[in-house]
Amino acid sequence: MNKIIIAIDGFSSTGKSTIAKQLAKKLNYIYVDTGAMYRAVTYFALENNLIGDDFFKEDALVNKLEEISINFKFNKDAGFAEVYLNGENIEAAIRTLRVSKFVSPVATLSAVRRKLVEQQQLMGKDKGIVMDGRDIGTVVFPDAELKIFMTASAETRAKRRYKELLDRGHKLSYDDVLENVTTRDHIDSTREDSPLIKADDAIEIDNSDLSIEEQLNRLVAFAEELISR
Ligand code: DC
Repeated sequence: MNKIIIAIDGFSSTGKSTIAKQLAKKLNYIYVDTGAMYRAVTYFALENNLIGDDFFKEDALVNKLEEISINFKFNKDAGFAEVYLNGENIEAAIRTLRVSKFVSPVATLSAVRRKLVEQQQLMGKDKGIVMDGRDIGTVVFPDAELKIFMTASAETRAKRRYKELLDRGHKLSYDDVLENVTTRDHIDSTREDSPLIKADDAIEIDNSDLSIEEQLNRLVAFAEELISR
């Protein structure tokens, strides 16, 4: 069976991972959440006091990169692969607003990106993979057979993220979530190394008014057409 690489990029909280996970399941492909890898490095930086409200020890973080080992292990009950940092399951710990606040500055560092991109390219070497992030179709897999670029208004995305965090028991304000979403959009799309941009050959989907089922149906149709070629 012809296997392909599916790259899904887009702004924060566009629902990329929800769709990517379901698409991977439907095609029996591996799913990789690259945002979780940048979050893992950020979690490490926070735990080691390398980043905080008014400081960022960039060189110290870069020097410690070789101490960071990130893996994914499939959790049957959850139905997806959870992220581990040096053997510790940090899947829940990286989904806080605190990690979200510091992840974009960490993701601007070229040394961090080089390390993670190399690991991502290895994970996709046998194809049969759905990977989501910001630079998958432009940098990680510029030759991916299917590239999707997801968008939605900042308010729609902040509302979704706010509800998700509330459901998980976090106490926070909608305004803080909206502020985080717009700040990350700005940093992610203006950074020098691998900024978030739509690849020329990506299909853009604005999902502000699309249900998850509608999005999934579209992506499955695109993927099956390419696989059957
Ligand atoms: O998808 P996410 O919100 O979990 O991603 C967290 C941050 O990681 C995002 O604000 C930018 C960074 N990121 C990146 O720079 N490149 C990727 N391929 C994935 C995420």
